[in-house]
Amino acid sequence: MKKIAVIPGDGIGKEVMSACLKVLEAFDFPFEYVFAEAGDETKEKTGEALPDETLQICKESSAVLFGAAGETAADVIVRLRLELETFANLRPAKSYKGVKCLFDNVDIVVVRENTECLYKGLEFEVKKGVTEGIRIITEKASERIARYAFELARRDGRKRVTALHKANVMKKTCGLFRDVCRRVARDYDDIEFSDYYIDAGCMYLVLDPWRFDVIVTTNMFGDIVSDLIAGLVGGLGLAPSANIGEKYAIFEPVHGSAPDIAGKGIANPSAMILSSTLMLRHFGYISEAERIEKALEKTIAEGKTTPDLGGNLKTDEMVEEIIKNIEE
Ligand code: NAI
Ligand code: MG
Repeated sequence: MKKIAVIPGDGIGKEVMSACLKVLEAFDFPFEYVFAEAGDETKEKTGEALPDETLQICKESSAVLFGAAGETAADVIVRLRLELETFANLRPAKSYKGVKCLFDNVDIVVVRENTECLYKGLEFEVKKGVTEGIRIITEKASERIARYAFELARRDGRKRVTALHKANVMKKTCGLFRDVCRRVARDYDDIEFSDYYIDAGCMYLVLDPWRFDVIVTTNMFGDIVSDLIAGLVGGLGLAPSANIGEKYAIFEPVHGSAPDIAGKGIANPSAMILSSTLMLRHFGYISEAERIEKALEKTIAEGKTTPDLGGNLKTDEMVEEIIKNIEE
């Protein structure tokens, strides 16, 4: 039995989580779901957005499924990522038939280093009008993220890893990152490898996104590039993510609690469901993950969706369609 901490959170977080659990329950996974509280409502009730009890449950679990928080998102999810030491942030983007987007047949996953670079908070005011920020890049973290990207490519049957950096200008920091990626690439002759400068890479992403498969990059570039690829395929309702650590992993949709539609029963459950298939892949349930993803794809292609994707179904109705397609 694997313990899964389930944190629905606020607003549509609750709605998409219950939808997602229905889909998982169509299978017989050896999972024990342990529900835990966090978010705005929890803060109102207990004074804490992320109570110790919730953190404890997460630390006793193999994975965390997180819905969304509201205004307390930073106190909840950002803290959770730190506490659970998740070093890799995974953001896949895929175009779906039947969804309006810039490009068809795009299927890219960004593997973003999540612990260092410019996001360490090492910023100072040297004197009035002069500030500095320190960029930390280590061999250890670079190697860990590069290996993760190649292992993920292998596991998911992906063909190519592309590293994005700016080693021509940031010779030391990006130079180290690039060199480590190139070295790790030699251990994976079954996976193609290339590296681009981040600026050129962004241009290629927009002109010719099909040349990318797995992208591995440092924290700040990864933050920007993962939003860029989300834009290529259009839409928050379809954007899942994973935060992977040595011991723990958190799976969550990119979207928030969507107060404008919360309570109406029309939230798109796809991003949450796709986050859960990232969890299944993480545990090695690859064929089950594929079955859910294919069923979701078919449901969307048939136009049986929530209003944000142009359909007229409620969350529950869309889930029923997905489960029907799984069982077919
Ligand atoms: P949001 O992602 O909640 O909503 C942005 C827009 O996208 C809204 O119009 C919403 O209706 C729509 N949308 C989002 N997810 C959808 C879904 N599954 N189905 C259909 N439509 C969907 O972002 P916003 O409005 O900037 O923030 C709202 C609250 O969520 C804030 O309190 C913010 O702090 C929080 N937030 C939490 C996050 C988290 O828990 N990871 C991430 C982003 C925001
Ligand atoms: Mg961002």
